[in-house]
Amino acid sequence: MLQLAVLGSGRGSNFQAILRAIDGGRLPSARVCLVISNNSDAGILALARSAGIPALHVSQKQFPTEEAFTDAMLLALQRHGAELIVLAGYMKRVPSRFVREYRGRILNIHPALLPKFGGQGMYGRHVHEAVIAARERESGATVHVVDDEYDHGQVVLQRTIEVAPDETPETLAAKVLEVEHALYPEAIRQYAGRMFQHHQK
Ligand code: GRF
Repeated sequence: MLQLAVLGSGRGSNFQAILRAIDGGRLPSARVCLVISNNSDAGILALARSAGIPALHVSQKQFPTEEAFTDAMLLALQRHGAELIVLAGYMKRVPSRFVREYRGRILNIHPALLPKFGGQGMYGRHVHEAVIAARERESGATVHVVDDEYDHGQVVLQRTIEVAPDETPETLAAKVLEVEHALYPEAIRQYAGRMFQHHQK
C-alpha cells in the first residue's frame, strides 16, 4: 500500500477525486494516510475528517521560524508513514529542506500547460485570465514533480483542452478543473508505479 499525504489550502476537490479513484479501483494499492492544511477553515480538512482520515492544521504562523515549521511538517508526515506527498491546491511554498527530504516524492498539479503560465503569482483565476489574454487556443492541466522552483520540476502527465473563442476565466477554470480530477489520480498511479520499479532495482 502506497501511503499518500495530501496537502491543500482550499476546497479539496482534487483530494476528493483522489479518494474516489482509490474507492473506484482506479488508483489501486494506495491510501491517504494524512491531510495537512495551512488553513484551519479549508474545505479539504472537513472532507478528510468526514472520510475518517487524519487531518491536521499546520501553519507557519504557529511557529517562530521556518525551521520549526519544517520540523513539525516532517514529523507529522513521518508519524503517519507518508511515502508520496501530493500537493492539491496547497498555496504555500514548500520549504527547501522539506523538498530535499522528500526529493522526487512530492507532486503538484497546476491548472495550465507548464512551462507556460507557471511561476509566482500564477495561481487560480490569474492563470486562466493570462491564458485568455494571450489568446491561447489550448490550455489544460499539468502534474509535475516539485523541486525548489515554483511550478518547475519534471512533468509527470499533462492533458490538453481547447480554449473556446468565447471562453471566460470562469468557464475555463471549470473545464480545467474537470480535467484535473481525472488527471491527478492517473498521474499518481503512473508515478507510483515508476517509484516502485525504482525500488526494486
Ligand atoms: C486546482 O485548480 C489546482 O490546479 C491548483 O489549485 C486548485 C485546487 O483546487 N493548484 P481544489 O482545492 O483541489 O478543489
